[in-house]
Amino acid sequence: TPAVGPLKAAAPFPVGLCAMTGQFDDPQWVAAARRNFNQITPEWEMKMERILTRTGGYDFSASDRIAAFARENGMRLYATTLIWYAQDHPWFHDLDKARFVAEYDRWIATVAGRYRGQTVGWDVVNEPVAEDGDGLRDCLWSRALGQDGYMIRAFEQARAADPEAVLFLNDYNLENNPRKGATYLRTVERLLKAGAPIGGLGTQSHLDIEIPAGRITDFMRELAQFGLPIHVSELDASLRSDRRLDTRSPALKREQQQARVIELAEAFMALPPAQRFAFTVWGLRDTDSWLRRGNEDDGKDQPLLFDAQARPKPLAAAVETAF
Ligand code: XIL
Repeated sequence: TPAVGPLKAAAPFPVGLCAMTGQFDDPQWVAAARRNFNQITPEWEMKMERILTRTGGYDFSASDRIAAFARENGMRLYATTLIWYAQDHPWFHDLDKARFVAEYDRWIATVAGRYRGQTVGWDVVNEPVAEDGDGLRDCLWSRALGQDGYMIRAFEQARAADPEAVLFLNDYNLENNPRKGATYLRTVERLLKAGAPIGGLGTQSHLDIEIPAGRITDFMRELAQFGLPIHVSELDASLRSDRRLDTRSPALKREQQQARVIELAEAFMALPPAQRFAFTVWGLRDTDSWLRRGNEDDGKDQPLLFDAQARPKPLAAAVETAF
């Protein structure tokens, strides 16, 4: 495969990258990020656990640095996330109902308000669908405000705080798990009917490289039927397998990975231009991946488009070609 030019130059839509403030001190990361991408999502810095303090205060020191990096480098900013089941914050635990609702609204108004005019969009609600795809997750927010209620409220509050931002419902495993994809689609339909100002649909695309060919394409088509902008919001494709006995050769896994990522890029390209919001990868170098952190990391996974030296891999060239 030929060497890649800047990835962003190949795409008729924004190409996004997640960033953490620590990476701004790494010249190799900065150079490759600026060269290839024109949109930045904070990997962690705009999440509730980072911004909201234990006593209900707001700390924007890190999130502001991400916004400044995007601005100074002429990149769009994309923000994540306002309401996420996984960010069950201690500040909300002992509040009575009225106070809970007031603090919920204040959180959204304060954070979305701060980046009003700076961010092009928000993941307003992240990962609402149950892991197995059977209904919605039970969480702190749904218990207090109702399963659809907490989402509808979040979208309404976000629209009031930042009327220009495109407001997304974001989730994962939608193509890997058809049941989960179907529940997501039904949820979007229901929330729209209830009047929630959903402006875009996010599919994280942490791809399972073993899923059958065609499934990604099918899901993308179904997603497109709402006519809303679509964000491939967190692409990576792990080479690791959950299967206990994994006898596939490394070469076969890379082939599977490439085929699924190409399918995703082509399915995205096949969307009507107005629906191609952005195509975002969840990390620059393989070594930057969240999949390479933590206890289960074997130091070998290569889920991203650039190698440890920030050189484009054949996977990057394949994506470039698909664009
Ligand atoms: C992950 C980040 O990569 C980590 O750095 C952070 O500590 C936890 O979150 N789905 C999402 C992302 O919506 O926000 C997650 O990002 C990855 C899975």
